[in-house]
Amino acid sequence: MSQEKRSSFTGKIGFVLAAAGSAVGLGNIWRFPYLAAKYGGGIFLLVYILLAVTFGFALMIAEIAIGRKTGLSAIGAFKLLNKKFSFLGWLAAIIPAIILPYYSVIGGWVAKYLWSFISGGAFQTANDTYFGNFISQTGEPISWFILFIGITALIVLCGVEKGIEKVSKIMMPVLVVLSLFIAIYSVCLPGASEGVKYYLLPDFSRFSATTVLAALGQLFYSMSLAMGIMITYGSYMKKEVSLEASVTQIEIFDTGIAFLAGMMIIPAVFVFSGGTPEALGKGPSLMFVTLPKVFESMTGGTVVGALFFILVFFAALTSSISLMETVVSIVCDKCKVKRGVSCLIVFIFSVALGLLSTLGYGIWSEVKIIGLQFLDFFDFISNSVLMPVVAFFTSIFVGYVIKPKTIADEVEISGKFKRKALFEVVIKYLAPVCIILILVSSVLDAFGIFKI
Ligand code: PHE
Repeated sequence: MSQEKRSSFTGKIGFVLAAAGSAVGLGNIWRFPYLAAKYGGGIFLLVYILLAVTFGFALMIAEIAIGRKTGLSAIGAFKLLNKKFSFLGWLAAIIPAIILPYYSVIGGWVAKYLWSFISGGAFQTANDTYFGNFISQTGEPISWFILFIGITALIVLCGVEKGIEKVSKIMMPVLVVLSLFIAIYSVCLPGASEGVKYYLLPDFSRFSATTVLAALGQLFYSMSLAMGIMITYGSYMKKEVSLEASVTQIEIFDTGIAFLAGMMIIPAVFVFSGGTPEALGKGPSLMFVTLPKVFESMTGGTVVGALFFILVFFAALTSSISLMETVVSIVCDKCKVKRGVSCLIVFIFSVALGLLSTLGYGIWSEVKIIGLQFLDFFDFISNSVLMPVVAFFTSIFVGYVIKPKTIADEVEISGKFKRKALFEVVIKYLAPVCIILILVSSVLDAFGIFKI
């Protein structure tokens, strides 16, 4: 598709908000806090922020610039710039197809909690066994999952993204304010200070290759990087909008929300569950187990909780829409089918894959792949294997094939490139070397071959 035929965002704010709508989602509110809790608190936060201002910055600049330069989405863009690298577009395209199904399973959990809060069952959710009982059932989590992915599919099919964009323009700022409020409340709970220390003060003895890989995977996931999405967004961006300033704003927004989510959840784990390694290592269930307890202890907690889950639901929906939209448009282009057919194919495929993830917590909980349940396995494969691989090849591609200058020239169309030197060093040297080291050691670790 040529540049002329593409619709574009109205201006800088339009672009930043749309990209932030895709970036801010369950990754920030659900995934970031449980990883931070599990991987040592402060040390994870520190590594994450360092990676965000180096790797995250360089990769996001590169992806958006590739998109804006070619006016194409990932598969076409890599092919146009160098035929030998077409495989990279394809590799990137597989990732959203793996994420969408399990993302929607978690989206379904959020929908269920939202329903509990507005239908008067709010504080049952604060019971220790509530979450475990819910996800280990068969019919209920499946129904909520299908509801969530069904809504996503309908929106993608009818193309009411414009309406969603308008809603998220209001919702996003409200989410920031509410998160700030809940975070302050959490921090002020008696006994929270241990948790605040754990979250903010790095303990260097907990540093390991797995921490870095987990932080790196989270960075890509949270910023919707290394899967071609930002290339597509870049292709819609106008030439006069400052690329560097937009990237900085998206990063601040995305990291800010993740940071606040950690502030809401981690101190509360110390208050309500004693901050033991088991409590901190709860993984995917952490948000669903801890936050209801915070709301229960709060005056007006039902209302605050309901509002919170509405916002998380919308943040998740804007992200799942961008995931599904990407997969649907690839299927449309490559299989030469109509949009409706493509939506149906993606819907059926996602339901099938998502069922594995839901049942993996219930009747199939005995089934494990490399020691992981289905949902955790899909998450591991996409975040800890495929995304670093795509990021590695993207940095090689930019650093040595098209050269950093091609990107810098594109950035400079809309103003001075202030952090050009940093960009070049990261993309040429730091990114490829570090990603390979971390990837190899952590994959070996996952298979139990070698422990760092
Ligand atoms: N970045 C989103 C989040 O943090 C997840 C996502 C990934 C959305 C990739 C779109 C594409 O929740």
